[in-house]
Amino acid sequence: MAKVTFTCSNCGASHSKWAGQCDSCMEWNTLVDQGPLSAGPGKTLGGKRGRTITLTDLATVEEPPARTMAGVAELDRVLGGGLVKASAILVGGDPGIGKSTLLLQAAARFARNRLKVIYISGEEATAQVRMRAQRLDLSESPVILAAETNLRDILTTLDAEKPDLVIIDSIQTMWADHIDAAPGSVSQVRSSAHELTGYAKRKGVAVIMVGHVTKDGQIAGPRVVEHMVDTVLYFEGERNHQFRLLRAVKNRFGPADEIGVFEMTGKGLVEVKNPSALFLSERGKRTPGSAVFAGIEGTRPVLCEFQALVAPSPHGQARRSVVGWDGQRLAMILAVLEARCGIPFTGLDVYLNVAGGMRVTEPAADLAVAAALISAREDTALPSDAVIFGEISLSGALRPVSQAENRLKEAQKLGFCQALAPAAKKLEEIAGITLRPMDDLVQFVEDLFGSR
Ligand code: TYD
Ligand code: MG
Repeated sequence: MAKVTFTCSNCGASHSKWAGQCDSCMEWNTLVDQGPLSAGPGKTLGGKRGRTITLTDLATVEEPPARTMAGVAELDRVLGGGLVKASAILVGGDPGIGKSTLLLQAAARFARNRLKVIYISGEEATAQVRMRAQRLDLSESPVILAAETNLRDILTTLDAEKPDLVIIDSIQTMWADHIDAAPGSVSQVRSSAHELTGYAKRKGVAVIMVGHVTKDGQIAGPRVVEHMVDTVLYFEGERNHQFRLLRAVKNRFGPADEIGVFEMTGKGLVEVKNPSALFLSERGKRTPGSAVFAGIEGTRPVLCEFQALVAPSPHGQARRSVVGWDGQRLAMILAVLEARCGIPFTGLDVYLNVAGGMRVTEPAADLAVAAALISAREDTALPSDAVIFGEISLSGALRPVSQAENRLKEAQKLGFCQALAPAAKKLEEIAGITLRPMDDLVQFVEDLFGSR
């Protein structure tokens, strides 16, 4: 007899025994009996034959999906070049970061470009949404508005209205009456997202869903929602900075990792056309601990500044504090600096920060982080006309990174004269910028801070 298995409805992990908690994602009450694994259509599907499906080849040429531009370059780029029909998009972000503002502005733009847009708020009354629209000077936009949480009523209305774009703010407030659970619970969020995604595909409508994030920064509710939709965008930024990043973490219709940069103003979000200039704008002259990293976000080069502060630790346990970069990666770089270059950080507090509220995920920033750390520790400024990039391996060797040429071009555009980067064979010299190639971290330290 085939074995009965249990599957977690949140993360999909299989278990041989039932348990109250899934030991893979730690959710409670999510294990469901999946019945015996299929032994082929003969038994479990009742012995009935299905229809033969159509098989095709790879060479068939398909039309690229039709797209509608919002006319906001930062948004269109993150969507992969405009909004695609019949697509489901999830926009996650902290409460108060500006999701409703972004989507109301986007709704108005798409409506102006002759899409029929319905904005359904499950969180705010229509009066509140209207007030926001007034503040944004969008009261005259032909966006259709509703405040509702009942999914059955919403879908019935949408079937009658036949919109081109539907915005659901937020998926956690939706309530499907065939599920016996509170709104926001794992099963409600999953089935609401499932119904809305199904509706998008069936009717050829674009559906944008807002999702709240949990404390650890993930979209609240089941992970499977992210697998259901075509595109997952995160709207992020520090509350006390006015800059906001819209980041594609998954996109079936375009490149992932693409970012759009906005500034939150008194009149809503304004796009930032040249983020590098913005992230470097507060930079003073030649301060120790400051290093300019030439990064790539998606398809676009973005320069930003790493700031490090190293100070004797008054406590037994030295502090490691990071904003905008991965703490584990910082620990690794500190270990490599100590083991390969003989630069210890024991007994020293280390603070690392990416200026302007930017968050960097590329390992290509390793060398810039190392440079900022050594510069802070030695109290010696780095050359102010230099950008830095390169990945550091555990041996202390520097690894070349992708798109070096684009990084150099952006640096040159912003007036930098030299680049400190791993030696790369075919990298032709970009006009006006000198590449100082480095083989490993030891050579880098000697070159910049003299032999120690
Ligand atoms: P909101 O879009 O409501 O955030 P979310 O939907 O992600 O919870 O925006 C929240 C903040 O944005 C709020 O604190 C006020 C600020 N804000 C502005 O600064 N300017 C504006 O024009 C608007 C509409 C909001
Ligand atoms: Mg909101």
